[in-house]
Amino acid sequence: MNGSYILETEGLTKEFRGFVAVRDVNLRVRRGEIHGLIGPNGAGKTTCFNLLTKFLEPSQGTIRLNGRDITAEQPQRIARMGMVRSFQISAVFPHLTVLENLRVALLRGQGISYHFWKSGRLLSRLDGRAMQLLEDVGLASHAHVVAAEMPYGRKRALEIATTLALEPELMLLDEPTQGMGHEDVDRVMALIKRAAAQRTVLMVEHNMKVVSGICNTITVLARGSVLAEGAYAAVAANSAVIEAYLGTEAAPATAATPATPVGAAA
Ligand SMILES: Nc1ncnc2c1ncn2[C@@H]1O[C@H](COP(=O)(O)OP(=O)(O)OP(=O)(O)O)[C@@H](O)[C@H]1O
Ligand SMILES: [Mg+2]
Repeated sequence: MNGSYILETEGLTKEFRGFVAVRDVNLRVRRGEIHGLIGPNGAGKTTCFNLLTKFLEPSQGTIRLNGRDITAEQPQRIARMGMVRSFQISAVFPHLTVLENLRVALLRGQGISYHFWKSGRLLSRLDGRAMQLLEDVGLASHAHVVAAEMPYGRKRALEIATTLALEPELMLLDEPTQGMGHEDVDRVMALIKRAAAQRTVLMVEHNMKVVSGICNTITVLARGSVLAEGAYAAVAANSAVIEAYLGTEAAPATAATPATPVGAAA
């Protein structure tokens, strides 16, 4: 085990009935970094995330979190061990207010079940921390707004706040800026950067402005395999990477200019 890596995979492979979606991936995520996982559509990025968070069983390979083999762990245990994926585990409840959503997330983080909500004293104890988190993501003035009534970008900010409420040591974000306009992209970028000051972030992202702007290390996947790894400038200049992106809109070398979130069609 190398203490400077919070997450390591070895030979991680996933086959779907003969089709290899993730092939022999050795991923090493350095503690304290923002690590980007990029690649053309269908490269295996989401499958990788699903393997890491145990939503899928690997066909082969091992996953280590803080040096501990977690390949056979249950998904709930993974979150307890400090690795939390946003936009999935931390669902936002649309009919609750922003503050209520944070309370739910904080209770969940403490392993307290929902019917203890009735205790007003417990709730008010949580509100200090809840408001601090809302401050962090720029939502303090929206505390009493019903989640469903907020614009898209703010909902994503709320999702990040509910993830942070679980105090993850390693936060996984799958396309955090997907479908956002410029302003929201900038806000979420700044927010991820701030959140990363105290933790490690592994994020899938198509928007090269975001990747080049905040990722310390980038792993490029193509057709299931790792093509390149390093700082943005190095991977963007890598000929295998350029070739893999050829004919797609999302090339790292060129996408620094247009700020359109590529791959936002869905
Ligand atoms: N459950 C599944 N069964 C069969 N094939 C699958 C399954 N899940 C993913 N795949 C295939 O595995 C490949 C990788 O898919 P994945 O969703 O991981 O790509 P991705 O890099 O996240 O792409 P995108 O950028 O479009 O989100 C694709 O060819 C996909 O069709
Ligand atoms: Mg995906």
